[in-house]
Amino acid sequence: MNLDFSQIVPYIPFILEGIWVTLQFVIVSIIVGFVLGTLLSLAKISAKKGLVYFADAYTSVFRGTPLILQLMLIYFAIPQLTGYDISPFLSAIMAFGLNSAAYISEIIRAGIQAVDKGQTEAALALGISYRPMMKDLILPQAMKNILPALMNEFITLTKESAIVSTIGYLDLMRRAQIVGADTYRNFEPLLFVGLIYWILVMGLSKVGKRVERRLNYDDQH
Ligand code: ARG
Repeated sequence: MNLDFSQIVPYIPFILEGIWVTLQFVIVSIIVGFVLGTLLSLAKISAKKGLVYFADAYTSVFRGTPLILQLMLIYFAIPQLTGYDISPFLSAIMAFGLNSAAYISEIIRAGIQAVDKGQTEAALALGISYRPMMKDLILPQAMKNILPALMNEFITLTKESAIVSTIGYLDLMRRAQIVGADTYRNFEPLLFVGLIYWILVMGLSKVGKRVERRLNYDDQH
């Protein structure tokens, strides 16, 4: 057994900085994914065939190919096709945001369809038009159903974020690799960031549970 954490001690601040670097693009990606996912979910349940087709095709492509491939396509194809360089940060947000939108659109679609049909019927009977009905009546109720699944998506993205290390983004994972290369000790920094990922995910699922309990509480009182 040959474990020596003393050599990575000087690198701890460098690794810890990676927490915010990682969380930063995960948070932006989930917001992008949520906005696009909401629009896609509305397209999926719309009466316009073209919209339904587009949204279904979008989901099929983004769920049907590896996220790491989408990330690399964006990072390498954009400079080649447009002549403009794209930063690892922007590529990461685009890949994760677009990918997450596909998953979130399914979560929201299911959430909307789980809202009692009577709600729509009542709104229509009262002469409320589509936009306010969706915005003020259906979506707020749907959000409640989907919150736990959204939290899961957040956790998935946090863990999947490690693949951005492959395009040189200085996230937690990449930092562990750099420290490994500097010190010739790979195991210790990997173990250390593994612990950080685990703590992050535990924290997120705690927040998720609390929100869920809060919503149930509101339901009963
Ligand atoms: N490893 C999976 C892939 O490469 C993760 C997809 C991302 N998942 C998600 N819920 N956004 O396809």
